[in-house]
Amino acid sequence: MYRRPIVIANWKMYLTAAEAVTLASQVNQLASQVDDLEIVLLPPLVWLPTIVGALGHRPRSLHFGLQNFYPVDEGPYTGEVSLAMVRGLASYALIGHSERRLLFGETDEVVNEKLAAALRAGVTPIVCVGELTKVALAQRGRGRPTLLERQSDIFRQLEVALQGIRSTQIDKMIVCYEPLWAIGNGQNVPAEHVETVLVALREQLNKRFGATIALRMRTVYGGSVTDETITDYLAYPHIDGVLVGGASRNRRQFETIIRAVAGATRSEG
Ligand code: PGA
Repeated sequence: MYRRPIVIANWKMYLTAAEAVTLASQVNQLASQVDDLEIVLLPPLVWLPTIVGALGHRPRSLHFGLQNFYPVDEGPYTGEVSLAMVRGLASYALIGHSERRLLFGETDEVVNEKLAAALRAGVTPIVCVGELTKVALAQRGRGRPTLLERQSDIFRQLEVALQGIRSTQIDKMIVCYEPLWAIGNGQNVPAEHVETVLVALREQLNKRFGATIALRMRTVYGGSVTDETITDYLAYPHIDGVLVGGASRNRRQFETIIRAVAGATRSEG
């Protein structure tokens, strides 16, 4: 089954308004030169309207999304923003990022509520799962996750996230394997292991929703992906794209990543 490759840029809480507009304009130009690839920028929410206004026309391949939102439309929720408030601005939303799980108490149940809210709002959810502590490579199985990994957080996180979600709603969902220990420190997870985890996650989706839907969903990896490591990931059929933090804020590095993903020959998985 063909799945469109995707590159997601998580700018986190970085960049001034001017820097964000400049970088988004550069990515906008680049996006018009690449086909058959989705690029999703997740800027700090406060800059989103400014960026969208400044870009004006943009190619079909460039989209914007949210790093966070609150899963009801309105109410007495001081400091929060709903999906209804960014209608027309953001078409993707990150849910369950490990930094939010660790630092802001985003539990599996909250992830589940946010997933349901995103699907109701017609926003494409990017659901992140990943273990918080490092599993030693020696304990990883070749080809399949070991029992240890099966017992780790990843599969439980996905299972709880999907509770009560109907298969008719779900095929746009993107699942991101994004272990906390690999983020922002150069300790990227080896591509072969990422593929093993993504295959196992797809099997879990298959059991839950059936093969047609599971094969349509995109599975991506995030954690210290750079212009130097990107090519390692492109050879694997279940790595449908990447979530990039630090390297997405560097124009030159991000351009290399986008061109590498756009130029890669995809084998179907
Ligand atoms: P990083 O961030 O690329 O800086 O490691 C990735 C992430 O936020 O998942």
